[in-house]
Amino acid sequence: MNTQQAYNQWAAQYDTNLNRTRDLEGKALREILSPISIDQCLEIGCGTGKNTEWLIKKAKFITAVDLSENMLAKAKEKITSDNVRFLQADITKPWSFGTGAYDLVTFSLVLEHIHDLELVFKETAAVLKPGGYVYIGELHPFKQYSGSKARFETEQGLQVVECFNHHISDFTQGARRAGLATVEMNEYFDDNNRNEVPRILTLLLRKN
Ligand SMILES: C[S@@+](CC[C@H](N)C(=O)[O-])C[C@H]1O[C@@H](n2cnc3c(N)ncnc32)[C@H](O)[C@@H]1O
Repeated sequence: MNTQQAYNQWAAQYDTNLNRTRDLEGKALREILSPISIDQCLEIGCGTGKNTEWLIKKAKFITAVDLSENMLAKAKEKITSDNVRFLQADITKPWSFGTGAYDLVTFSLVLEHIHDLELVFKETAAVLKPGGYVYIGELHPFKQYSGSKARFETEQGLQVVECFNHHISDFTQGARRAGLATVEMNEYFDDNNRNEVPRILTLLLRKN
């Protein structure tokens, strides 16, 4: 099953499953982006709209993109604002979301499904205004090293979505090569317990 098929199947239960990664990433995004003013936002991999619901209160307009029709359909059920446009697109193909148009591009739990980060960073830099921000919230590589992956139960058994391990330096070096400077890096822990392996890695980048 490819990534699109997997999320089309997961969509019906994505919001209601117990999912600590989904929930902790939502907390991280809200904390990190709270101080930043946003006019135009591009949300990549919006899924069922977990973060779109919050971002729409901060940004004037959101372009929310996802590969999965069924994840997008769930997001559209929840979010009816005229200030959001939903687009179905595959971000591993050249982007057509506008050039130099956005103050913020977000990726929440998406880049683990993307093999080639270079294309994504290049396209991200191109769509940003000068000084624009990039937020990345990912399952922490340390969790991935011990085998954690996006997964869900079906009647046919456990489905594991195709994932690629990216090291922290893959994010920071790839971003640098695309002209995106790392402003802030953070780690989020289950129950705020810093004696455990962190669950979420966040990066805030800025276009030079
Ligand atoms: C784990 S979900 C995260 C959804 C949402 N951002 C959240 O935090 O709940 C990953 C999302 O990335 C989308 N996705 C995966 N590969 C993609 C691609 N190549 N292009 C666009 N979206 C993609 C999936 O369809 C899915 O909705």
